[in-house]
Amino acid sequence: MKRLEIHALDPSAGLRHFLSVDSERVRLAYGKIVDLYVELFGTSEKVHRDDLDLIGRQLSGRAGAVLDVGCGPGHLTAYLCSLGVEASGIDLVPEFVAHARATHPGVGFRLGSMAGLDVADQSVAGILTWYSTIHLRPAEIDGVFAEFRRVLVPGGRLVVGFFDGDEVEAFDHKVVTAYRWPPDELAARLEKAGFAETERRQRPAGEGNRRPHAAIAAERVG
Ligand SMILES: C[S@@+](CC[C@H](N)C(=O)[O-])C[C@H]1O[C@@H](n2cnc3c(N)ncnc32)[C@H](O)[C@@H]1O
Repeated sequence: MKRLEIHALDPSAGLRHFLSVDSERVRLAYGKIVDLYVELFGTSEKVHRDDLDLIGRQLSGRAGAVLDVGCGPGHLTAYLCSLGVEASGIDLVPEFVAHARATHPGVGFRLGSMAGLDVADQSVAGILTWYSTIHLRPAEIDGVFAEFRRVLVPGGRLVVGFFDGDEVEAFDHKVVTAYRWPPDELAARLEKAGFAETERRQRPAGEGNRRPHAAIAAERVG
């Protein structure tokens, strides 16, 4: 009862019971810079054409729901919907969810964590996680990939955007500590979690992105 009362006052309070200390740090850090983030990155016009094409190619034209996990401002969720995808967005940060709902009224957005998605096993056709796993400690990423695998249907598609690097390495990201991943290492983690790579893209710094960029698409096996 007490928990329900807290929840009624602050919609993120219930969620906080399920967050690790690291997730709580990420939530607080993004909560402080939502307006700036939206201004800098919060529309699909700010996203590289190649990335929009990859996301559309991999996640449209499939029957079933697609989750944009760590959707932030919601622009990529709305982009997927504009392609006819049954997409909805999930994010840790209430301010992002509020912004996304106000900006894209026809699209569903809700609070949630990638550590424990509020959907049944094998119930979604695709997952987009665009720069939203970047703050996970390397030891946490396998658990999150396992959670993605749990909710995806066999053959379902996962698209991961991330910072490319020569080694798995933490760096001082403006919002909160983030990690670079060598694409081969991230692909190996995906394979270990039960995914088969279907496409990989890399782009050096300076071509519309400040840091080297990589994206991997993979299919849920089995
Ligand atoms: C760099 S932003 C990317 C946002 C958006 N995908 C984009 O492309 O602009 C990282 C996002 O991941 C979200 N995030 C981080 N950890 C998360 C978690 N455990 N569950 C859900 N969202 C999370 C943050 O709140 C933030 O919105």
